[in-house]
Amino acid sequence: MITLISGTNRQNSRTRAITNIYQSVLEGKGAETQIVDLAEILPSDIIPNGLYANSGKHEDFNAVRELMWDAQKFVFVVPEYNGSFPGVLKVFIDALKFPGTFTDKKAGLIGLGSGVQGAVLAMSHLTDIFAYLNMSTLGFKPKLAAIDKHLANGEITNELYTTMLHQHAEKMINY
Ligand SMILES: Cc1cc2nc3c(=O)[nH]c(=O)nc-3n(C[C@H](O)[C@H](O)[C@H](O)COP(=O)(O)O)c2cc1C
Repeated sequence: MITLISGTNRQNSRTRAITNIYQSVLEGKGAETQIVDLAEILPSDIIPNGLYANSGKHEDFNAVRELMWDAQKFVFVVPEYNGSFPGVLKVFIDALKFPGTFTDKKAGLIGLGSGVQGAVLAMSHLTDIFAYLNMSTLGFKPKLAAIDKHLANGEITNELYTTMLHQHAEKMINY
């Protein structure tokens, strides 16, 4: 089972479109998947009611904490926001059970952004966090730059991007 994290809570995000495409690629190669979309699972009151002294006390979010605890292999699909990953993704990580949710587990990263960087720094920042949490990250991290120009009607129109997602999926299955 590979757990795909759609890494923003923005509605109708391109991140979710890429997550859907990547899920199809993985399933086409025989992998089992599940999607955790921050737009669906992150409660709007997570900051006052699910962090720090309230950690583990948000009933709606507790099922997600358990799902993340049980999952072994993740792929985070990460948009570039202000030169890094979205703050809500850090809130999500901070609201999970600690320590242990990511310890000795495996992650992959796929980055996308409107600009030319394709979330390269965002993925670098996350790789540091995962290393701190003792989770290893696959070295191959597709960077889907200028995504607005290469995604239409839920389909990727750039052949190289499609190839990279297939290569990444194969590596994740064998990781
Ligand atoms: C708060 C915010 C900050 C953003 N900052 C950047 C940025 O620093 N660099 C960039 O290339 N795109 C930036 N974008 C554009 C996103 O990369 C773009 O919306 C892309 O489609 C991925 O985000 P999405 O999944 O929310 O659609 C930003 C978007 C938002 C909402």
